[in-house]
Amino acid sequence: MGLLSRKASCNSHGQDSSYFLGWQEYENNPYHEVTNPKGIIQMGLAENQLCFDLFESWLVKNPDAVSLKRDGKSIFKELALFQDYHGLPALKNALVDFMAEIRRNKVIFDPNHIVLTAGATSANETLMFCLADEGDAFLLPTPYYPGFDRDLKWRTGVEIIPIHCTGSNGFKITLSAIEEAYQQAQKKNLTVKGVLITNPSNPLGTTMAREELDLLINFIDDKQIHLISDEVYSGTVFNSPSFVSVMEVLKDKNLEKTQVWERVHLVYSLSKDLSLPGFRIGAIYSNDSIVVAAATKMSSFGLVSSQTQYLLSAMLSDKKFTKEYVSENHRRLRQRRRDLISGLEKAGIRCLDSNAGLFCWVDMRHLLNSDTFEAEMELWEKIVYDVKLNISPGSSCHCVEPGWFRVCFANMSENTLQIAIQRLESFVSSIATINTQSHEELKSLRKKTRNNWVFRLSFQSFHDREQDDR
Ligand SMILES: Cc1ncc(COP(=O)(O)O)c(C=O)c1O
Repeated sequence: MGLLSRKASCNSHGQDSSYFLGWQEYENNPYHEVTNPKGIIQMGLAENQLCFDLFESWLVKNPDAVSLKRDGKSIFKELALFQDYHGLPALKNALVDFMAEIRRNKVIFDPNHIVLTAGATSANETLMFCLADEGDAFLLPTPYYPGFDRDLKWRTGVEIIPIHCTGSNGFKITLSAIEEAYQQAQKKNLTVKGVLITNPSNPLGTTMAREELDLLINFIDDKQIHLISDEVYSGTVFNSPSFVSVMEVLKDKNLEKTQVWERVHLVYSLSKDLSLPGFRIGAIYSNDSIVVAAATKMSSFGLVSSQTQYLLSAMLSDKKFTKEYVSENHRRLRQRRRDLISGLEKAGIRCLDSNAGLFCWVDMRHLLNSDTFEAEMELWEKIVYDVKLNISPGSSCHCVEPGWFRVCFANMSENTLQIAIQRLESFVSSIATINTQSHEELKSLRKKTRNNWVFRLSFQSFHDREQDDR
């Protein structure tokens, strides 16, 4: 009998994919302009470092928020002793207002329906604990965020059944793909408890079309199951079409206060939209008060510290700041994406058309030796170890088509991005040279073979003639 639990000693944690392996390789040899210019550039991390100057100047103008003061007087003791697991009302109010603002106030949120969690990671797992039992299943459209294999499955024992989406329609969800996934689950004797989507999508960087959301709502209504919409990138939509939340569609369809209304739940966090992953501020928003009550109790295992709540309630309540931040952040992200795309185009690489997120979904199918996942891994290894760029292969996101990669563009300086692009360009042209070389070699081999044939034929005919002459 082992001394450790089965969970601690087995590797069902979902962290042994190439997505996490790439991070490890980066950690072993991180690029630095001065101290390690030949190191690996991290392009596998969906982090936004483009707007820290805006935070810094806000902090200078709002010293009370950082030094734990209210109107100049210390509230250190109040915050240190704070024990209400439901969170600071000021933060909940500011957070629901911010969520509404990102959705252009087309939906409003009730602060009594929000549960604070330590990031979206904790929010997603908590929702699994609330909505499913061990051995139940959730359907997820592919490609999906690789962290879900850990967050949704590991501790809960919930299964993920993929809804396979393909490049033929820009990876949009279709009814036949959902039905097929549902049947797959049934074949495996799994009870399907719901569908989980990320809107905007990680890794695609696209927002969901209203028709897709309609289809999903009809599906969960028909099957009487849940829908979780992970909207951690909702404030990171920088190009048209604009973001449509599933809550807005429910409202437009007059489904408020119906059963389906209670079966739709949102996940949110400030890790992406406000670039604060280290602060661990996440949330569940549910229309079902039983889910809210259960998730609130469970949130005791992953709370947000009170000084972080205090700082963020002050920042989010500054509406002028949030408005300016969101619009400037969009402008900078738009520019960054453009820089990446035009660099990739020079290397003959195209991306899926996208309008959101901190990454592009890059098509490198033409660089594969064969249309297989082995070839995808071979290419990925070359890019990580030789080109020294950590990008995430589509297989780590459960994509069904080999050759797609997620490439992040907002977690580095402009200069580093240009170096990454140059590295990729010279890699692609070296492949082209190898291909041209092998083409030339092949041509000269064919020529030699042909000459041999000519020689052999002429020798043969000479020999035959000699024989005839005899
Ligand atoms: C779709 C999605 N959900 C959840 C998370 C986890 O976010 P957090 O840092 O708030 O836990 C991520 C992080 O990349 C993500 O992309």
